[in-house]
Amino acid sequence: MRSIINTFSEHGTFVQPETLEYILSKDDPKKFTSFLKNNLKEYPLVLTLDQIKNIEQATEIEKIPIPTEDSIEKKKIQAKTLSKLFGMDLKPETSIDENGIKYGEINKEDEIDILKEETNEMSILPSKEIKKVKGWKPKSREYDAEIRIIKDVTGKSTCEGTTKDFVKLFVDRYDVLRKLLRNQRREMANVIPINRINKGGIKEIQIVGIVNEVRTTQNGHKLIEIEDETGNFTSISLKSNRETFQIANEVVLDEVIGIKGYLSKNGDILVIQNIIFPDISIQNERHKTNLPICAAFLSDIHIGSKEFMEKQWQAFLRWINGEIGNSRQSDVASKIKYLVIPGDVVDGIGIYPGQDKELAITDLYRQYEVLADQLQLIPDHISIIMQPGNHDAVRPAEPQPTFEKEIQDLFSAKDVTFIGNPCYFSLHGVEILSYHGQSLLDFATNIQHLKYNEPVEIMKVMLKKHHLAPIYGGYTPLAPEHSDYMVIDKVPDIFVTGHVHLAMIGEYRGVTLINASSWQAQTSYQKMLNFIPDPAKLPITNLKTGNVTMMDFSKKSF
Ligand SMILES: [Fe+2]
Repeated sequence: MRSIINTFSEHGTFVQPETLEYILSKDDPKKFTSFLKNNLKEYPLVLTLDQIKNIEQATEIEKIPIPTEDSIEKKKIQAKTLSKLFGMDLKPETSIDENGIKYGEINKEDEIDILKEETNEMSILPSKEIKKVKGWKPKSREYDAEIRIIKDVTGKSTCEGTTKDFVKLFVDRYDVLRKLLRNQRREMANVIPINRINKGGIKEIQIVGIVNEVRTTQNGHKLIEIEDETGNFTSISLKSNRETFQIANEVVLDEVIGIKGYLSKNGDILVIQNIIFPDISIQNERHKTNLPICAAFLSDIHIGSKEFMEKQWQAFLRWINGEIGNSRQSDVASKIKYLVIPGDVVDGIGIYPGQDKELAITDLYRQYEVLADQLQLIPDHISIIMQPGNHDAVRPAEPQPTFEKEIQDLFSAKDVTFIGNPCYFSLHGVEILSYHGQSLLDFATNIQHLKYNEPVEIMKVMLKKHHLAPIYGGYTPLAPEHSDYMVIDKVPDIFVTGHVHLAMIGEYRGVTLINASSWQAQTSYQKMLNFIPDPAKLPITNLKTGNVTMMDFSKKSF
């Protein structure tokens, strides 16, 4: 069974439980797997029973097509699987033998070797004392915190969810991004309103609008309809113009784009020469501080889950208190001034049906109490910045205002700054955009070359589009605020997300990109789908130099 799952997972394909059962029911499952491999036109994100039955039939009756990339059916399946994977739906009824499903390789990062350290049996419920280390003088204790909130919906939410609210949201999005396109992109210097397209006489047409529709024609071209305040117009990206066609494949619903093209002979369609995203400048000057201090990013703690990684967490606490680590690792710990937590701080309750069976703590309030206890063990000179995610006790629609006072009060003994999701803030002048990252899945499902397990690549596309979550009606519920808080109207120095439980670092045009791991081990559902999280890692940015490192607490064999 393992080899069958691995055959497909090597190509990034999940095998649905019932599909696996069907393969295993064959006389020679291995032979049947190679037959499937040879007859799959492409490796889908999710291999469904219908797809393999189609393949079987198609080999006998040529007419039955394999679902195409753009088929609605496939999107539905992807949506169902991904939302289950990240906590929004029913667990499957079929159970699969878990033996032999391997964990991911430990990256060769800065590992804390917990094996050599004494570890006591512990439980997350009572708070543990951390030994005071004699002579431990953290460098960052010398400096006061300097946190400035730049943009956050907290306390500013206006929406009531009416149609008028939605209109305001989209008008604001359009206005902000149209300005960006017109002011920053030379290709868009001569934009005309859509209702002037047919007036004739203009050879090269430039328009800006919100994407109303994107679809592939029967001949494989891409049809894109955009709308501005004066009307809407359909344009076509021909597959023969490969460069532009590739860009057209990155266009998603409800985003704002610029189109440069010429009118077809009968004047009813614009043939696209170029598609222009707002994008960010090639080199962005970074803000830095002169002080030798660092910020650590710690996402998706999931306190309350049975899979919460207590021992790795304990190792993290001991390291940040100067108790363990070699001299270089201790030096990094000593420079940490800020701990940024980008959401899913607890596992929550009722996030998906059947979640109660996965919980070690079934009382939501208690989950936050335990978290507050644990954060008490973070040294006092470190300031904590805490953001909600889709598992937290805040409204699900984004932008999410921060935690209610009742929850904030639990952390009153600690220096915690509560922020919304997303939030722009600065630490000693270094600007950070922190977003939990629910829309990572929307991008991965709607743009062919993006994968949910490569979040940094998706974050680059978000920066290109200057938007965190343009698609309305996807995985990411959006609240119709009068101003679009999901627009990236300011280029940050550091852009951090969580949600997909991976630990990755990247860079785009001078912006540091971080996906900030998790403290929840692989769940049973993730195991079944062969999704391998990368938990118990801690990305750290030096706010003076801009360098990023990753501490690894993920040793499992203790
Ligand atoms: Fe999470």
